[in-house]
Amino acid sequence: MLPDIHRNESVFTWAAPPLKFGHGAIDEIGAEVAAMGAKSALVLTDPGVRGTGFPDRVREGLLGAGLKAEVFDRVAVEPTDRSIAEAVAFAREREWDCFVAVGGGSAIDTAKAVNLLTTHPGDLLDFVTPPIGAGKAPWLPLKPLIAVPTTAGTGSESTTICVVDLLDLHLKAGVSHPKLRPSLAVVDPVTTMSLPPQVTAASGMDVLCHALESFTSLRYDAKPAPEDPMRRPAFCGGNPISDTWCEAALRLVGQSLRKAVCSGRDLGARSAMALASTYAGTGFGNAGTHLPHANAYPIAGAVRGYRAEGYPEMPMVPHGQAVSVTAPAVFRWTYPADPERHLRAAEILSGQRFTATDGAEALPQVLTELMRDIEIPAGLRGFGYTEDDIDTLTEGTLKQTRQLAVVPRPLDRRAVAAVFSASL
Ligand SMILES: NC(=O)c1ccc[n+]([C@@H]2O[C@H](COP(=O)([O-])OP(=O)(O)OC[C@H]3O[C@@H](n4cnc5c(N)ncnc54)[C@H](O)[C@@H]3O)[C@@H](O)[C@H]2O)c1
Ligand SMILES: [Fe+2]
Repeated sequence: MLPDIHRNESVFTWAAPPLKFGHGAIDEIGAEVAAMGAKSALVLTDPGVRGTGFPDRVREGLLGAGLKAEVFDRVAVEPTDRSIAEAVAFAREREWDCFVAVGGGSAIDTAKAVNLLTTHPGDLLDFVTPPIGAGKAPWLPLKPLIAVPTTAGTGSESTTICVVDLLDLHLKAGVSHPKLRPSLAVVDPVTTMSLPPQVTAASGMDVLCHALESFTSLRYDAKPAPEDPMRRPAFCGGNPISDTWCEAALRLVGQSLRKAVCSGRDLGARSAMALASTYAGTGFGNAGTHLPHANAYPIAGAVRGYRAEGYPEMPMVPHGQAVSVTAPAVFRWTYPADPERHLRAAEILSGQRFTATDGAEALPQVLTELMRDIEIPAGLRGFGYTEDDIDTLTEGTLKQTRQLAVVPRPLDRRAVAAVFSASL
């Protein structure tokens, strides 16, 4: 029988930027930008990534192709509204035809925000997803943006999303619109060889959660039909295309993440993780992430004193750590929504066989073992949170409407608080 198209969604969408992947791809950026007809490009990066030499190599490639090019290297790791305002002010000092982001999600998201705010009037909160911001859609053309990820990673090179820490609200939030998707993704696995083990581990867990959350997200045809089919949400829910990318990503992460953390110079493991990140970004950038990501925003936003090894010396919970800390409890809770899918994910990831008797514990167990092996903090107490913080964290999660729309089970305040309690 056909689904009731008047009540349920019957269409899913898929989009991704053109991609150049492979050793040496970073040296083709000058020619790519020149071919777009641009005459000038601003390279955005953070100080740590600038130290690797890749941003200046990109700048030299741009100069070699006859373009004007400069590097802005004051991107903040885990960007804030304040750090983005500084980048926007710098970019506004002259007219740029094109932006090139070289770095992890922090550099790429900053470049997305700079592109948006130098082509549109208003400030970031006008575009942030409601209820936190006004959720305006960009109405003018944006400039071309080339994204060169040096972590494996956020998948930001494929997605429509820009994540920002709103300092006064003590909350992370997102801007999402198809116009923010980069015009070209250039993934060169060699750029990830210099990643410290702790960043490799956290960003690798981010890849894993992108794949797992999309794979278990609410199916697109279980969602209500959109009021305006031309304004479908960016996260359309699980579908056969996102499943294909997510399964491939899970397999690669299972085979390569431990190796990439322990032997950072292993180009095979680095290439597999770069590919996994691209696959997962392609999957979750359409289907969507759900509760672990919704939880990660208040966990990162309300941080007090926690400092993460391998990251800049400042209080922060790296995104990959914030995402994975509640993942085992979330997948225990989502198991009844689709037991077969959860067992399959555990099998692909671990290479072991699981049956229904392993039940809801299979996936959390595989995740917990991996997190232990690569030294990802397993509890919220490790970040300085206690029982007293659960209400604040729950409140923050309930504001993440984009992710909550694809949680595969009906969700209420008690369920979110229970996940946080189980993750202490
Ligand atoms: N837009 C999206 O779709 C999306 C998705 C998930 C997360 N995010 C956001 O992305 C940010 C996290 O990004 P990330 O995990 O990629 O890390 P990051 O960009 O914050 O970088 C982490 C650290 O690694 C360093 N680093 C990066 N590449 C390096 C390299 N090749 N060699 C040595 N050091 C290197 C950086 O200097 C920094 O200190 C967060 O703000 C998160 O919220 C965005
Ligand atoms: Fe993420």
